[in-house]
Amino acid sequence: MGTKKMLYPYVHPLKPVSYGPKLPEIIRGEGIYIQDTQGKVYIDGISGLWNVSLGYGNPKIREAIINQLDEIPYVNPIQHSNPTTAKFAELLLELVPENIVNVVYTCTGSESTELAIKIARKYNQLKNRPHKNKIAALDLSYHGTYYGSMSISGVDRGISEDYGPNLSGMIFLPTPVKKNPTIDNSNILEVIEKELHYIFNREGQNIAALIMEPVLGSGGSIPLPTEYVQMLKDFCQEYDILLVIDEVATGFGRTGKMFGFEHFNIEPDVICLSKGINNGYLPLGATLISNKIYEAFLDQNTQIDHLSTQNGNPLACAAGIGSLQLINDTTLLNHVTNMGEYLRSEIHSTLNNHKNYSETRGKGLMIGIELIKNKKSYECLSYSHINELVQIFTQKGLIVYPFYNHPRTTGIHLFPPFTLTKQEAEEIVKIIKKVFEQVIF
Ligand SMILES: Cc1ncc(COP(=O)(O)O)c(C=O)c1O
Repeated sequence: MGTKKMLYPYVHPLKPVSYGPKLPEIIRGEGIYIQDTQGKVYIDGISGLWNVSLGYGNPKIREAIINQLDEIPYVNPIQHSNPTTAKFAELLLELVPENIVNVVYTCTGSESTELAIKIARKYNQLKNRPHKNKIAALDLSYHGTYYGSMSISGVDRGISEDYGPNLSGMIFLPTPVKKNPTIDNSNILEVIEKELHYIFNREGQNIAALIMEPVLGSGGSIPLPTEYVQMLKDFCQEYDILLVIDEVATGFGRTGKMFGFEHFNIEPDVICLSKGINNGYLPLGATLISNKIYEAFLDQNTQIDHLSTQNGNPLACAAGIGSLQLINDTTLLNHVTNMGEYLRSEIHSTLNNHKNYSETRGKGLMIGIELIKNKKSYECLSYSHINELVQIFTQKGLIVYPFYNHPRTTGIHLFPPFTLTKQEAEEIVKIIKKVFEQVIF
């Protein structure tokens, strides 16, 4: 066998193929801390990839996985069922509104949103309206990287062109984002409402589903205004469009409520889940469907043609049960709300006078710090500046995550574990202060 030339034996996602050796190799984790092979300890300010919400080394979840491992680690999901997988589905259904009646398991968030598209399209086929197959999504949305989920991700439209042709029939809706503070933003929602009327007048009859994150994650931790969500809800009602809520980032307590849609007066038809579903310890996702959809399939005695070998894996579901027992706790959810408010306010007062600071936003422990070139031009920071900043944070022992949606909004995210203490939050603010004393772009 010839000598293999690559610099690292596996490719890191979203990095040039040669990038591996530059990344810290993480081998241990406890609470909010992770440690690399050199012994350096970091605060994991983004809970893994927004999924390890209860932190590392959680004994309850470990025990749940081990107990299941001792029984059976895998069950063929087509020819058998399993009590752990069924139990977890029951628990999920207890958490959502009455109209949501069934669970379809997946392994990832990308798969959950992709499946939502499949379900919405077949639902309309079953209703004898095959023309109603388009999917509406927000232009700053992110829903994953599979073909369907990539095609409905507003933020990745430039990238996904490299892999074209993408799924057809996608419609992107304007997302309200505060733009330049020096210009009048007061009528931004009025302008958007006009655009929405134009789009829905033309296309509403052909739209099968509208997919929306209650707080845009990769878009830059952007909470959606209530009036805007209400507008989208009204259009869905007027044109009989399924409302799909992508809770992959916001679900399971991240925004201070069990699900992000609970901040609004809306009733989803489909809920997409993953990430915090089992504290990120094993791959798992789910797409929850409403009675209306379930009955359309039931009436024609037909199936949802979706399967991947590991969907609903009992070990992953056992981790989900263990994790839910801890997250479904009002005291913990209130703690998420309070720590989020504390962090946002401390970060704002620490950075308010910094040349590159725009605002701190989000909900619960989903925090976006928007950064700009300067307060006059309000331009976004460059890709290399944002990446440099993330690396400086890493050197200083705090893991943060970039967002780069040029020319709309750029900055960094914090998604700390829910177990974050006041002292740990103070430590995070201290590091932020230190970094921004050193860095002015
Ligand atoms: C809102 C949202 N949807 C979907 C996804 C895709 O999930 P996954 O990375 O598990 O495929 C993500 C991931 O960040 C997300 O934030």
